[in-house]
Amino acid sequence: MVDTTDPLSAVKPNAEALMKAAARNGRSPLAHALLKLARIPRLRSRALKLVLRLEGGEMFSQSYRAHLARALDIEVGLYSYGGLLRLGALPPGSRVGAYCSFGTGITVRRRNHPIERATQHPFFYNAALGALHRDTIETDRENPISIGHDVWIGDGATILSGCRSVGTGAVIAAGAVVTKDVQPFEVVGGVPAKVLKMRFAAPVQTHIEASAWWRHSPDILMRRPDLFLTEMTVEAAQALETWSNEVRA
Ligand SMILES: CC(C)(COP(=O)(O)OP(=O)(O)OC[C@H]1O[C@@H](n2cnc3c(N)ncnc32)[C@H](O)[C@@H]1OP(=O)(O)O)[C@@H](O)C(=O)NCCC(=O)NCCS
Repeated sequence: MVDTTDPLSAVKPNAEALMKAAARNGRSPLAHALLKLARIPRLRSRALKLVLRLEGGEMFSQSYRAHLARALDIEVGLYSYGGLLRLGALPPGSRVGAYCSFGTGITVRRRNHPIERATQHPFFYNAALGALHRDTIETDRENPISIGHDVWIGDGATILSGCRSVGTGAVIAAGAVVTKDVQPFEVVGGVPAKVLKMRFAAPVQTHIEASAWWRHSPDILMRRPDLFLTEMTVEAAQALETWSNEVRA
């Protein structure tokens, strides 16, 4: 019987075994061949779907990450998941940390049309349309986005080219239009997005950052449910930092 008044009782005794099993799924012996098939455009989508199925889904798949890195220069940390991991959602050159949660319908734009010129039509800035030797405005790759660890981006958020960095632990509210960098642990929302609040007081934030808990796998983190299933206090954040650094040592 689960005691709903005690959050720690939510952890199954075999959580460690479960997480280890899931982590093993991060690589499949068939993936190498499937990634070769994924180089053929008409087979790509089916090959990658199979890779994901064989390797425990997008939270765990190492081979799907290898494809994103090789084909698109997109790096995504382990256990991150959601809409932004779909092909085409993140522009080439993007960097995403571990343990991020992405809702549906998120848009990431890396450049604006040149509104200061006589025309803002892409014939005059986008070489892919055939009239130019090279793009005449900054390319997506020249303005890459960097998203930290454990970032949560709500449904329908739009990140515009003025935002190059979303800090670790930040929250972007549903429907936000983000025009500037988002600092670690800020909760931003609205159009244009403004800081709604900070997730934590400064000392808590400092300890969480120093803990770098996101470097550990979930089976390790599940060993200390008291640190992850309860509200953060300064004492708890300090304990998290100490524990995380001891585990790493
Ligand atoms: C950002 C969010 C996490 C804040 O939740 P919360 O901590 O419960 O905050 P509250 O609802 O108490 O709102 C705090 C303030 O932010 C404002 N706010 C909340 N969500 C907002 C949004 N999406 N856009 C603009 N303002 C928002 C509230 O109006 C409130 O303003 P006030 O203090 O002036 O009254 C939540 O509103 C949100 O957007 N969640 C995303 C859900 C989602 O997309 N899930 C996808 C699944 S991954």
